[in-house]
This record gives sequence, structure tokens and C-alpha cells, in this order.
Amino acid sequence: MDDKHLIEIARKAKENAYSPYSKFKVGAALLTKNGKVYTGCNIENSSFGLSICAERVAIFKAISEGEKDFEKIVIVADTTESIRPCGACRQVMSEFGDFEIVMVSKKNEIAKSSVRKLLPFNFNGSFLEIQH
Ligand code: THU
Repeated sequence: MDDKHLIEIARKAKENAYSPYSKFKVGAALLTKNGKVYTGCNIENSSFGLSICAERVAIFKAISEGEKDFEKIVIVADTTESIRPCGACRQVMSEFGDFEIVMVSKKNEIAKSSVRKLLPFNFNGSFLEIQH
């Protein structure tokens, strides 16, 4: 599936954002290696810390459906510069390896990177080995 189509899907998902506090809508479309697409939007809460980003919603939906091999994630917002995923989302993405991140602005400006490039030196499961 091409980026243009994924951007359209992410824009549609953005419209479902529940963001009455920030009024900032974000949409995500996560493409799996076997060609499925999982969407996400940000979902806020009156207890602000419970809010969740669009990227993590898409990833958690995919994981809950048994998918964990990802090709790319497309993120859209009505920003002047292309949107950037927050640090928490980068960490969550890094749990599932390296894949492409496509970041899109309101006027369709596109920046491309990858999980490893946006979060080098990440914390990961190898640090959890018990040291005696
Ligand atoms: N947000 C996302 O959903 N993804 C991002 O990449 C950045 C921020 C959301 C969280 C919150 O609902 C709103 O945008 C403002 O921070």
C-alpha cells in the first residue's frame, strides 16, 4: 500500500480524535508486514495523564489482534511542520523493532525517518536480565 493511501486513512482516523482539552487532533495508520492497516487517534481524559497518543492506540490495537511485525507508521496532524511522535510513543514503537516513520503536516509536507533513528540508545528488554 502506498504512502498516499495510508495518509488518507490516517487523516480519516484523525477525525475520530477525542481531544476536547488540547483541541489537537492526531491520526495514525500502522501498516503491518502482511499488509493490514491499524488506525489510531489520540484519546484524552479529564485526568490529563490518562490521555493516549494516536500512535500508541494504533500499535496497541495491532498487538491485541496478534500483529507485531510492522512495515511503517504514518502520523498526521494539522501542523505547519510535519508532526513528530512523542518520546513515549518512540519507546513503545522501539519494543517492536525498527520500522519506517512517516510524519505528515497539514499541507502534506512529509518527513521520513525510522524508529532506530528517532530513538537511538533505547531502553529494551536486554537490560532486564537480572544481575547477580
Ligand atoms: N499527540 C499524539 O497523539 N501524537 C503525537 O505524536 C503528539 C501528541 C496527542 C496527545 C494529546 O492528546 C495531544 O496530541 C496534545 O499533546
